[in-house]
Amino acid sequence: MESDRRVKIAPSILSADFARLGEQVAEAEQAGADCLHIDVMDGQFVPPITFGPVIVEAIRPKTSLPLEIHMMVISPENHFRQLKDAGADRLIIHEEATAHLHLSVGQIRELGMEPGVAVNPGTSLSLVEEVVSEIDLLLIMTVNPGWGGQPFIPSMLDKVSRARACLDRAESSATLEVDGGIKSDNAASVVRAGADQLVAGSAVYNDSVSVAEAMGQLRSAVSCGYDPK
Ligand code: DX5
Ligand code: ZN
Repeated sequence: MESDRRVKIAPSILSADFARLGEQVAEAEQAGADCLHIDVMDGQFVPPITFGPVIVEAIRPKTSLPLEIHMMVISPENHFRQLKDAGADRLIIHEEATAHLHLSVGQIRELGMEPGVAVNPGTSLSLVEEVVSEIDLLLIMTVNPGWGGQPFIPSMLDKVSRARACLDRAESSATLEVDGGIKSDNAASVVRAGADQLVAGSAVYNDSVSVAEAMGQLRSAVSCGYDPK
């Protein structure tokens, strides 16, 4: 692993204070966030309902950060155009939620956005092998999706390593992102396993520390994650 590889941090607004969402977005940007992770949930693929294109549209003028939409939505293809019009830069769809993964990935790219694919903890990486050369991001879920604040599933660390190997084998330059239970005490190990980008929800937005402090803790944890050898 290159010692100067810069790991990106993507705060998830799921744990933000929605009554002052614009400020919370600005705080993340000022604290050095690399992009914003926006969790869209439909009440079917996962039990909760969160928000959709209207919130993406409201956030768009508040930040210059790229907006990545994590679509925990059945048949996500029904919403690609609307999310593009709302200002999305990257759409991440679940392997488990679309009947035609390859087709959906192509549709996202045709609309001028970056396609990403997510896999749940129980989903084999073999199910995304055929599209790794078509995508810009592979998202490994390290909790079962639906809620912020859940603990990282330890066995997923090995899956992150296998995902890294899978991308390397395919000579893919796709970003390897990890989502769920990322804190300053496990971020380094996830980076050592090969992650390029970490989603952090409750670690960034919580009542104990400011967004700036939380981002600082994560950033220093991540910069200790490199193996100097
Ligand atoms: C969970 C979402 C995550 C969530 C992560 O289904 O996909 O993005 O916001 O929250 P934390 O970082 O608190 O586990
Ligand atoms: Zn997410």
